[in-house]
Amino acid sequence: MCGIVGGVSLEPISQYIIDGLKSLEYRGYDSAGIALSMDGRIELSRVKGRVDKLAQVLPQNLIATTGVGHTRWATHGEPSEINAHPQPSMHQQFTVVHNGVIDNYRSLKKRLENRGFQFLSETDTEVISNLLEFEYAQTGNVMQSIKNVMRQLVGSYALAILFDSDEEHLYFAKNRSPLVIGKGRDGMYLASDYIPMLAKAKEFVTITDHQYGYITHNDVVIYHDEQNTPLQISFHQTELVSEDIQLIGYPHYMLKEIEESTDVIRRLIDNYFDGNQYIFDALIIEKIKAARNIVFLACGTSYHACLIGRRYFRDQGKNCEVHIASEWAFYPYIADQDSIFIIVSQSGETADLIHCMEIINERGATVITITNTKGSTLDRAADHTLLLFAGIEIAVASTKAYIAQVALFALIAGAIAGTTNTVSDLVQIIKVQKEIIKKRDSLIPHAQFISKNSDVYFLGRGYDYDVARECSLKLKEITYIHSEAFPGGELKHGPIALIEKGTPVIGFVSDPMTADPIRSNFQEVCARGADVLIISSKSLARTGDQIVLPDVQLYLTPLIKVMIGQYLAYFAALELGYNIDKPRNLAKSVTVE
Ligand code: F6R
Repeated sequence: MCGIVGGVSLEPISQYIIDGLKSLEYRGYDSAGIALSMDGRIELSRVKGRVDKLAQVLPQNLIATTGVGHTRWATHGEPSEINAHPQPSMHQQFTVVHNGVIDNYRSLKKRLENRGFQFLSETDTEVISNLLEFEYAQTGNVMQSIKNVMRQLVGSYALAILFDSDEEHLYFAKNRSPLVIGKGRDGMYLASDYIPMLAKAKEFVTITDHQYGYITHNDVVIYHDEQNTPLQISFHQTELVSEDIQLIGYPHYMLKEIEESTDVIRRLIDNYFDGNQYIFDALIIEKIKAARNIVFLACGTSYHACLIGRRYFRDQGKNCEVHIASEWAFYPYIADQDSIFIIVSQSGETADLIHCMEIINERGATVITITNTKGSTLDRAADHTLLLFAGIEIAVASTKAYIAQVALFALIAGAIAGTTNTVSDLVQIIKVQKEIIKKRDSLIPHAQFISKNSDVYFLGRGYDYDVARECSLKLKEITYIHSEAFPGGELKHGPIALIEKGTPVIGFVSDPMTADPIRSNFQEVCARGADVLIISSKSLARTGDQIVLPDVQLYLTPLIKVMIGQYLAYFAALELGYNIDKPRNLAKSVTVE
């Protein structure tokens, strides 16, 4: 969602900040801004719209070496220049960028208004700037003011703060929104993500909740808000390299990421299997084996992957549930102390899941996080973590992360069952995926047909229904075509009323057990005029099926079928001319509830 990029450097910093904000564009935003500390003043530029526009309005040849930029995804107040960050305080003493949401901003704002503060924006961030100014008037000390403000804020925040015309320091504070410091050769940098800093920094410090401090061009000082002495700092490195975020000849990240799926499965095998046996942390496998109840919590695409995981774990005799995090967080239920929670998140920063994690940790149950992002909030807050090794995912629509999640569930289930067949089954999947990639252009005519419609329905049963839900999500996210997935058996209980002449229906056939009933469902919609596109597995194929895929083990068919759905969505969006990697209204990492 929102992005922060800033630093204190020995070199002019404005171009670095603009480039950094661009590298965060994939996260989704609708306005952008930058504040530079120079010549005893703050140079503030903000725009509604893209970072390119910000770069155009920014005065040329700025020599400022300290500054901070922001991309905002509107929460409080519409996207506009005045609501864009940085947000200055009333007398411009503090200039603040903020990721997160302040839950109690209304009451804080009222108190400040009663004290004579005036507000220009509708943002919760301006409350923070003015609160800092108020506290500074009492204490005369910036660090003490930040600490006092943190005590009053309820909610999530990663803050970067410029004070007056002080060019030496860039202050920060954090609670429940990510913030990383990077040490470069020519300065110290901070950002909401490693990516913008990869060009400058090799060593990093992850700021954790309740910490605040400042950077100078060659130092970082961090305090915990309940301690009076600075914390010991140890830098770490990241496996990310700037090449990971290049398109390397692909027109879009989404296409690149779909086609990285084969590497993703290979990396998972290499990380969790040594050629003879699984090399998972034995404690994790023991805990899962011993658990009576396994509860998956996730959102969006990760939730859809968990639907497949649930089938694997049930096959191992586990009582297994899957919940949408934003639902569970407000109606939590923990059956007993033997329940294990598996929180699944590509980004590791999804606010709904952080909320769930807090509840589970408070109640003392075991949590395993499955994430693609080492060092993320959900990684650090869990008892155990299993990494997805999918490589950075830039396109807003998640593709390879789903593949990684399903493949990892399969490997875990294989380890629980004590069978290494899973590994050879996955190797077979890689081969089939490569074939699909080679023939991807044959899907274009089907995608072009889909793109001409305003409603598209998916039908499947069992695994096929689960994967149909993900394919339908992909289609609606990037083509804005209304789409839903139904279990074939439910048609007659309502959804068939939607079918009329020309309604496109995409149907999956992978399971011998349900092949006949799902074929009957296709007949039912055909009889009402639907145009049915059938995607079947070779051994179940019938004349007329438009897309026939090689046979693979039934439990792994989602890894193949989902690629077809991803490609169909991709090519349909291409046909419609939409911004595939940055679909409207969506953000890559949903860091507010
Ligand atoms: C869909 C998509 C979202 C995410 C969801 C959860 O393409 O990307 O539905 O899957 O926001 O995100 P993570 O997995 O980062 O928790």
